Formats: sequence, structure tokens, C-alpha cells
Amino acid sequence: MKKTLLVLAALVASVTFHVTSAQEQPSPEQQAADAAATRQAVFKLLGFNIGPIIAMTRGAPFDAELAERNARRIAAMAPMIPELFAAMDTRGYAVETKALDLIWDNMDDFERKAQDLVDSANEFATVAAGGDMAATLGAVRGLGGTCGNCHEAYHEDDD
Ligand code: HEC
Repeated sequence: MKKTLLVLAALVASVTFHVTSAQEQPSPEQQAADAAATRQAVFKLLGFNIGPIIAMTRGAPFDAELAERNARRIAAMAPMIPELFAAMDTRGYAVETKALDLIWDNMDDFERKAQDLVDSANEFATVAAGGDMAATLGAVRGLGGTCGNCHEAYHEDDD
């Protein structure tokens, strides 16, 4: 019994310690670097998921299930784009980024372009679910176009 209490006390102490350390705020510079890294991770995952779909238009074996699954993932992740940019305005911090400053002056439009991606990814997924190769491959351009639309306006290399 006494031993159990001791173990419990040690556990509580260790949990308390972790909660206390988590409360120590990182510096604003660190928060900005983290914010940029997190949004870039989402974009990398978008790229990871669209990659095999684009490969199918270039001769990789057609796989309707994979195309639908990856498009659904893209639709699920896209709303995180404006959320992450709204969570922290990293203008004014020396972060590694290709995001143009005007994003934060045009959040409504930025959000609309992310919603376009949700819509086009869901539309693509519906076509892919039909299993028709020609129709699915024909719809890839529409999906990729919504990535490109936002990059044209808000990504440094593509404006
Ligand atoms: C609503 C706007 C928007 C949409 C939609 C969008 N992007 Fe981007 N993307 C950006 C911005 C802004 C950056 C730059 C982020 C940064 O560097 O902080 C970016 C960066 C990227 C990167 C580079 C990530 C890195 O740092 O290595 C990739 C890859 C990418 N996007 C792929 C895609 C793909 C694929 C789609 C469509 C499925 C897509 N994006 C849709 C705005 C968008």
C-alpha cells in the first residue's frame, strides 16, 4: 500500500513537471519558425498525396482506389492551410518561407482558394470512385489547377 502511494506520488510529480515545462513559452521567433515549419509540413503532405495521382497521368499504372483515397486526404487537409496562416502572422520574422506577405492582407481570398481545393479534391475523388481511367486522368488537371491558382497568387516562385 505504502509502495503504491509512493509510486503514485512519483507519477503525479512527473506529470506536474511536464505540464510546468510545457507552459514555458517559446520565444516569438521560435513560434514563427514552428508556424512556418508546420504549414510547410502540410504542403509537403499535399505534394506527397498528389504525387502518385500525377504519376498516373505519366504512365504509372492506373489505380482508382489510390486516386480516390489520396484526393480525399487532400480535401481533408486543405482547410488546415488558412487555419495555419491565421494562427500566426509570420511577417516580420526571419523565417524560411516562400509565402508572400500579401496572404495576411487577403485572408478571405486565401481561404477561398483553399476551399476551391477542398471542392476540386472532392470532385476528383467522386470521379475516381467511378473507376473510369480516362475520366479520372482527365480530371487531374482540374485538381492540380487549384494548387496552381493559389501558388500563382501567394507563392514566391510562382507569382
Ligand atoms: C490556399 C493557397 C494554397 C493552395 C490551395 C496550395 N498551396 Fe502549396 N503553398 C502555398 C504557399 C503560400 C506555400 C509556401 C509556404 C511557405 O513556404 O511557408 C506553399 C508551398 C507548397 C509546397 C512547398 C512546401 C515546402 O516548404 O517544401 C508544396 C510542395 C506545395 N505547396 C504543394 C501544393 C499542392 C500539391 C497543392 C494542391 C494539392 C497546394 N500546394 C495547394 C499555398 C497554397
